Amino acid sequence: MKFITVDSYEKLSRQAANIISAQVIIKPDSVLGLATGSSPLGTYRQLIDWYEKGDIDFSECISVNLDEYVGLGGENDQSYRYFMNHNFFHAINIKPENTFVPNGCAEDLAAECEKYDARIADLGGIDLQLLGIGLDGHIGFNEPDDYFVKNTHVVELHESTIKANSRFFENEAEVPRRAVTMGMVSIMQAKKILLIASGKNKRDIVEKAFFGPITPKIPASILQLHPDITVIQCLN
Ligand code: GLP
Repeated sequence: MKFITVDSYEKLSRQAANIISAQVIIKPDSVLGLATGSSPLGTYRQLIDWYEKGDIDFSECISVNLDEYVGLGGENDQSYRYFMNHNFFHAINIKPENTFVPNGCAEDLAAECEKYDARIADLGGIDLQLLGIGLDGHIGFNEPDDYFVKNTHVVELHESTIKANSRFFENEAEVPRRAVTMGMVSIMQAKKILLIASGKNKRDIVEKAFFGPITPKIPASILQLHPDITVIQCLN
C-alpha cells in the first residue's frame, strides 16, 4: 500500500488527477471506475483543466461508476448520473455511450445488478478504481455489515450515511433510503485502486480502515488486501 499525506485539498486533487492521467496516457482505452461525493470534485476539475489544455484525451476511455440512488433518474440533479455528467463527462471528450452508472430506476433492480456485473466482466474488469470513503468506512455504498457483499446489490443506507449525504439535499427526508452499489468483487479485482480522503473528520476512519483489523464492520478495510492501492489523504 502506498500511503500519501498532503496538506491541502488542491495537492490531493492534483496528485489523484496525475495518477488517473498517467493511467489514461499509458492505456488510452482504460476502464475507469469512478466515484461521486465531494472528495473527487477537485480531481475532476484538474482533469478537465488538463483536457482543455490538450494534455489528456478520454475519447477511448470507458467509465463505470460505483453506485446510484434507487429511484433517482439521470435528470434528477441529486442523482449520481447527473453528478457525473455535470461535474465531469460533459466537460471532457469521453463518449456518452461509454459511461456507465447503475440504473437506480430499473423496474427489476436485481436484474440491473446482474447486468452491471456482467458489463464490468465483459469490459475485462476495471483498470483503475477511484474511491472516496464514507465516515462509517463505506466504499461505494457498501455499508458496514456482518459480511462483505460480493456483487452489485441494492443496499439500505445507514442513518449516518443518510445524515452525511443530506447536505446535498434540501433536507434529510429527501435522501433516498436505498442505493445500488458495486460489490467488493469488482472493486477488489480492479487492477489499481486510488482512494482519496479529505478533511479532519476522515482522519479516524482512515486510520481504522488502513491500519486496523480487516472487518466488514469497516468495509474499506478490505482494501488492505489489494496488491496495488494508493491512498492519498489530506488532513485539513
Ligand atoms: C457517498 C458515496 C461514496 C463516497 C462517500 C463520501 O456516500 N456513495 O462513494 O465515497 O459519499 O463522500 P465525500 O467525498 O463527499 O465525503
